[in-house]
Amino acid sequence: MSSQPTSLVTGAAGFIGSHLCERLLELGHRVVGVDAFTDYYPRPVKEGNLAGFRGHPAFRLVEADLGRADLAGLVGEVDFVLHQAGQPGVRPSWGSHFDQYVARNLLATQRLLETVRGSRRLRRMVFASSSSVYGQARELPLREESLPQPYSPYGVTKLAAEHLCRLYHQNFGVPIVALRYFTVYGPRQRPDMGFHRFIRAALAEQPIPVYGDGEQTRDFTYVADTVEANLLALTGPVAGGLFNIGGGSRVSVNEILRTLEEVMGVAVRREAQPEQPGDVRHTWADTTRARELLGFRPGVSLRTGLERQVAWLRQHPEIDLPAAQAGPSRPF
Ligand code: NAD
Ligand code: UGA
Repeated sequence: MSSQPTSLVTGAAGFIGSHLCERLLELGHRVVGVDAFTDYYPRPVKEGNLAGFRGHPAFRLVEADLGRADLAGLVGEVDFVLHQAGQPGVRPSWGSHFDQYVARNLLATQRLLETVRGSRRLRRMVFASSSSVYGQARELPLREESLPQPYSPYGVTKLAAEHLCRLYHQNFGVPIVALRYFTVYGPRQRPDMGFHRFIRAALAEQPIPVYGDGEQTRDFTYVADTVEANLLALTGPVAGGLFNIGGGSRVSVNEILRTLEEVMGVAVRREAQPEQPGDVRHTWADTTRARELLGFRPGVSLRTGLERQVAWLRQHPEIDLPAAQAGPSRPF
């Protein structure tokens, strides 16, 4: 990689985007971070995500909405685009919130693609896709060749955005790679996500909400491994590629709670809640393609990753429980 490449990270104030910025700065990139500070979860939490690198001389933050901002000025000067901005969350994607999913996952991505297709400087764009494009698994582990049949409105928007990426590659040669992340966790995890809610509830000695029977499984992926996958995707002859990025730790929610009890040294109380529309029963990534073509190998075990997330949440009591029950601000 040439000296001091410039990278544009969208969603820079978010969970994954903030870790990515930090790592790129460590590697000597100039980083332009874009974020709209959407109200899906509180702004102070996102400000906290940025705190460790906001003052770095090679970092510039642009507060802008990809759905409206003039993107040409941002994109013209960059070698790499790491497109993490989006409206995440499987369960809140029903009802009147769907317009936010369409705007932030689909329209914003289309605007970005229209802008990058004119760039002669761009070397690679990475799109943060999702395991939710697969839907209910008919066969495990999930392979990139499997027919994607999303089970949530969120998954529909991520799949549609993935298709846009593919066709901008095919029609205009945009050098893009889509990574299908599988349930990412670790320090700074979004307050609406499972591990964050489980740990926060345990710290507050509150019962842990368990959807359904807790026997649903996820291929949980540590955030640093997700970041590493992005870095690997910046180089190598894989433009147009599509890759599963999973941590290799496929475990049930019930097993997670048992491990959490060991890690935290407490007994947790469970509170049964109904199964949630849009939640798939199982995910499990076949990462053969990412291993063979990108050299991707997840390096952080579930136990170590959980320990790090527990330590981080212990250090951040200001992310309190009511705020942690985040979700879209508008009622359904
Ligand atoms: P996050 O909500 O913490 O980060 C996303 C950031 O994007 C937020 O800070 C938000 O303000 C910003 N944003 C949203 N719409 C924007 C817009 N139009 N313009 C500018 N900024 C905008 O979410 P995350 O968990 O870090 O997820 C990052 C990406 O990875 C998302 O695209 C998500 O769909 C995808 N993903 C996440 C997971 C996971 O487990 N966390 C799994 C699969 C895919
Ligand atoms: C996560 C992200 O939130 C999505 O944005 C992302 O696209 C998706 O991963 C993905 O892999 O594509 P999810 O798997 O639902 O979605 O992640 P969590 O919110 O961490 O939930 C993990 C498991 O815990 C799920 O089975 C869920 O049903 C369960 N859970 C979650 C509970 O039992 N209780 C809770 O309070 C929260």
